[in-house]
Amino acid sequence: MALSQWLMIMILFIHSSSSGRLLWKMKVHVHEVQEQRAREHLKLHSASMEQAFEGNMEQPLDHFNHHKNSTFTQRFFVNKVYWKCPHGPVFLYIGGEGPLTQFSVLAGHHVSMAKKHGALLVALEHRFYGQSIVPGGLEIQNLQYLSSQQALADLAAFHLHISEKFSLTCWNIWISFGGSYAGALSAWFRGKFPHLVFGAVASSAPVQAKLDFSAYNTVVGHSLLDESVGGSDKCVEAVREAFSVVEAALFGGNETQVGKDFDCCETPKSPEDRTELLQVLADIFLGTVQYNEEVGPLTVAYLCDIMTNQSDEGAYRRLVKLTKIYLHTLGHTPCLDVSRGETISELNRTSDSGIPGYRQWFYQTCSEFGFYQTCEDASCPFSRRLTLQTQTQLCPLLFNIPQSTLPANIHFTNQYYGGEEPRTQQVLYVNGDIDPWMALSIVRNGTSDDHRAILIHSSAHCADMNPATTRDRPSLTHARQEIERCVSVWLKRAELEHRI
Ligand SMILES: *[C@@H]1O[C@H](CO)[C@@H](O)[C@H](O)[C@H]1NC(C)=O
Ligand SMILES: *[C@@H]1O[C@H](CO)[C@@H](O)[C@H](O)[C@H]1NC(C)=O
Ligand SMILES: *[C@@H]1O[C@H](CO)[C@@H](O)[C@H](O)[C@H]1NC(C)=O
Ligand SMILES: *[C@@H]1O[C@H](CO)[C@@H](O)[C@H](O)[C@H]1NC(C)=O
Ligand SMILES: *[C@@H]1O[C@H](CO)[C@@H](O)[C@H](O)[C@H]1NC(C)=O
Repeated sequence: MALSQWLMIMILFIHSSSSGRLLWKMKVHVHEVQEQRAREHLKLHSASMEQAFEGNMEQPLDHFNHHKNSTFTQRFFVNKVYWKCPHGPVFLYIGGEGPLTQFSVLAGHHVSMAKKHGALLVALEHRFYGQSIVPGGLEIQNLQYLSSQQALADLAAFHLHISEKFSLTCWNIWISFGGSYAGALSAWFRGKFPHLVFGAVASSAPVQAKLDFSAYNTVVGHSLLDESVGGSDKCVEAVREAFSVVEAALFGGNETQVGKDFDCCETPKSPEDRTELLQVLADIFLGTVQYNEEVGPLTVAYLCDIMTNQSDEGAYRRLVKLTKIYLHTLGHTPCLDVSRGETISELNRTSDSGIPGYRQWFYQTCSEFGFYQTCEDASCPFSRRLTLQTQTQLCPLLFNIPQSTLPANIHFTNQYYGGEEPRTQQVLYVNGDIDPWMALSIVRNGTSDDHRAILIHSSAHCADMNPATTRDRPSLTHARQEIERCVSVWLKRAELEHRI
């Protein structure tokens, strides 16, 4: 994609973004670009979209209370073009915190493996996301049925549904795949339902719930230092300096000037809006590191070139320039939205007409996972004002979940799944060492027959799941080969176990 196109998209993001809103939109965009690429890839290989078909199934709204008989309609996708009927394996692609599309069974590394192994491809959209939302489902009283445990029970019911539909037997070996939160679901599905799924690939999977996820920004700092992706000491120093100057000016009586310099829609007068500006600026860096080299020229190397450019005087000016580059390049000059009130009303929207999945995922952070990307730790290069408190205070405000209950919610999740020691067998955890989420995943091999881990040098979030390209680093290509080897070993092992 051309730089100008990317910049235009970034402008659209920044226009209405703050407090994680920008980061969330960057993610939505990355998925869109990946789908566009998948579309081109399909054309190139004269495959067609018609290979995928969409289906729906009725699911209990509450798997754990049979007195309640409400149901909802859950969407899934199937591609049986590669399937070697009747005994070929089943590759299950698990949907996460956003809408699923037919590309879930048409493109990606799991699809190329399905071709090789003659697998039936199936994918299930996560409840409460995309089109799998109960009417009125985003109202507070319904959100109690949005949880990873319900989602795993949906997967078990889906297993039965597909097995009946395609007359599958125990000869059809299931392998699950997923990335990010869905990567964790992939590992947990194997952990909780080992009789349904024989092996699981978990890409960039944060299996450990964490209230204060300060390590996220520690990794962001390391990645900005990492010369293998274009980072440097100078870059991190410049980022630190820029944030400390912006903060001092914002809170030292110069907010009008700062608001002008950064083209804010309104002067950030209230302390909340001033903090929101700091969050928006930080989000540019967070999103870039998390999706380094995924889409377009927005990379660590590109940010660091701007932040260390000697032609521009002072770190503050460079940060202003960086922000302006996103805002102004196309002569289309929206302003930077730094209103905390706007963020809150976006999160409070129950119609899902806003940013897909934003409200639902925030609910899951309050009720299950935490994952708040704070900056109170000295290793964080941005502003200390990005606190746990500013994020968790939204839980009671939006969902009536008291802040005091968050530690127990997160503790329960770790108790239930095993946290940093999930003790899962035949699970392959794949992470990139640039990706901040690796801090809550599994990056070391287990003992003997336990899980296995692959840590990909200089690789970002979920990069291994994409189809291979000629631009891939050797470390990524090698990791994909390792994943393929592992999946082949599982399938052979399953076959042997059946013979015995
Ligand atoms: C659901 O349960 C209610 C009472 O609990 C009952 O009146 C209703 O007929 C049930 N609906 C279905 C579809 O079974
Ligand atoms: C406020 O901005 C003006 C003009 O940029 C500058 O001269 C002054 O030092 C700033 N004051 C503070 C407290 O940052
Ligand atoms: C550095 O800044 C100068 C002046 O703004 C610009 O001409 C040059 O292209 C920049 N270099 C990089 C690497 O961004
Ligand atoms: C969220 O929306 C509900 C219903 O429209 C409203 O009653 C509530 O005050 C809103 N909460 C916030 C924090 O804006
Ligand atoms: C795990 O073990 C395999 C070989 O058994 C090795 O290739 C791989 O590098 C190890 N992974 C890590 C993260 O050490």
